[in-house]
Amino acid sequence: MSEIRNSILELIGETPLLALDNLTEGCDGRILAKVEYFNPGFSKKDRVALEIILEAERAGALSRGQTVVELTSGNMGTGLAIVCRQRGYPFVAVMSKGNSEERARMMRAFGAEVVLVEQCPGSEVGQVSGDDLALVEKRASEITTERDAFRADQFHHAGNMLAHYRHTGPELWRQSNETISGFCDFVGSGGSIAGVATYLKEQRADIKCYVVEPENAAVLGGETVTDPRHSIQGGGYAMADLTFLENVTIDGFLKVSDAAAREATRRLAEKEGIFAGFSSGANVAAAMDLLNGPMRGEVIAVLICDSGLKYLSTDLWP
Ligand SMILES: Cc1ncc(COP(=O)(O)O)c(C=O)c1O
Repeated sequence: MSEIRNSILELIGETPLLALDNLTEGCDGRILAKVEYFNPGFSKKDRVALEIILEAERAGALSRGQTVVELTSGNMGTGLAIVCRQRGYPFVAVMSKGNSEERARMMRAFGAEVVLVEQCPGSEVGQVSGDDLALVEKRASEITTERDAFRADQFHHAGNMLAHYRHTGPELWRQSNETISGFCDFVGSGGSIAGVATYLKEQRADIKCYVVEPENAAVLGGETVTDPRHSIQGGGYAMADLTFLENVTIDGFLKVSDAAAREATRRLAEKEGIFAGFSSGANVAAAMDLLNGPMRGEVIAVLICDSGLKYLSTDLWP
């Protein structure tokens, strides 16, 4: 059988699973990390982009050559830029100026039009709040109407959750030889945790799934926001009503500080050779807390959401 792939889209998914045994040395239990930057756009969102476009094509919601628009912190836009170009749809990415500049450059390289939206007064570059995101949403809606475009809508389109239910979850279960007993995930749209948790709990109902949030904006855990600003790009928007979380059983809520996420991201590079972004560090920091607390002796899976190369302009890598 030929090993030649005929489209970059065939390289999305089936990412490797690595045991973080250097990082957890001395701990009782294991962390298994699914290294999602092996996707063509260097993040887990390539899976979501592909699933949303394929679902829209199946449903007849996308017409030939129709423009696709989406709000993005960079990763979803990169995935859509690749998928849309390959399938013949022009793509407009709408992103906050608070997200790192290299993301916009990458999307443009893949052929996307990138519209950058000013942040709210008081917001800082590198710290995109829910209010900043509301401005991006407003602009994305306007452009969708102006261009009679298809809105990919990662916060609501079922393809987001389905990408992880149909692929990320089953891959994790198979690659771990069905040994996973816990999963924790830093939430943006909630698509990853909803899809993976639903699949894993169907395999074994007692697998524990935890939401990870920034320490000062932990609304899903029922806390009030003391400061919406944080460095963990890609999520933590302090949105209490995420559609994808409505029908999922969450076993607990974990908080991670900027410093803990940064420290864990750096240790991932140093100890394991994994060059990842802030949210991957947040996932690993939370998993370490679980291993040193209620999940001692267990096997916890996490996602390495994207590549550290996307953060070279930030203080993550001094
Ligand atoms: C780097 C990064 N981490 C975490 C997330 C959150 O994932 P989800 O939207 O599936 O909750 C995203 C989403 O775009 C992301 O780009």
